[in-house]
Amino acid sequence: MQNNPLKTIKQITRRAIVRTLPKDMSDFIFSMKHRTTWRKDNHSHLEYQEQYLGREPVILELKKLMNDIHCDSPKILEFGCSGANVLRLIKKHIPHHTYCGVDLNENAIDFARKQFPNDTFYVCDDIGLPKLIPQLGRQDVFLALGVFYYINSPKVQEILINAAQIADYVVILDELSCFNLPSGKNEGLFFHSFSAMCRKAGLEIVVEPVFSNGPRKTEGYFIARSSARAASANVSD
Ligand SMILES: C[S@@+](CC[C@H](N)C(=O)[O-])C[C@H]1O[C@@H](n2cnc3c(N)ncnc32)[C@H](O)[C@@H]1O
Repeated sequence: MQNNPLKTIKQITRRAIVRTLPKDMSDFIFSMKHRTTWRKDNHSHLEYQEQYLGREPVILELKKLMNDIHCDSPKILEFGCSGANVLRLIKKHIPHHTYCGVDLNENAIDFARKQFPNDTFYVCDDIGLPKLIPQLGRQDVFLALGVFYYINSPKVQEILINAAQIADYVVILDELSCFNLPSGKNEGLFFHSFSAMCRKAGLEIVVEPVFSNGPRKTEGYFIARSSARAASANVSD
């Protein structure tokens, strides 16, 4: 699709103006903008359905981890699930599981529900998630693939803290160029300093970043284990 030059200039100008604001404020505004764009989107879930195999390495890594810890039928919560393209892979590689998908986009969730009527889906964004998470109960895995790009760091930090309270493992696929840096960047998309953020959330990295073979070399995935969950499991043993 050809870019409209006037639209591009307007976009660049708007971004430049927002960037003159203090960083917290401009990040908040960019985050709001992403939310609005994703809420209106009516086609991306179809593209992800076609490109779903790109997520296979993450799900194969998750399968290996679940085998290693003898978790035969994991409970998986996916945030930013779109039309459930990743669920197709989960069904293929981890056939015994309980799945719940969350996304802010109603079109994607309608599509997902039609594809997988026996699974559970919620329309919910990053703001509503901390309220929803406790209702979903304990999970083995919290998945967030390609969604933290669009959310500012304070919100992502809050989500990680919540995820660490309910899930044993957190699996993230995202832009990882700031993974080990003390603070992230905002280049239209948010680049988070995941290592420090995980530490703050009580998450210990158990699978170090694995970078993509695709066009975006700084994108990759990693897996973290919740020390909060591990500690509460020891107490209840
Ligand atoms: C790039 S797609 C990734 C889809 C899928 N997870 C995958 O890996 O193929 C990002 C998804 O995150 C959702 N999303 C973006 N911002 C969100 C937010 N603030 N809260 C909830 N979902 C969000 C979008 O609606 C979209 O479906």
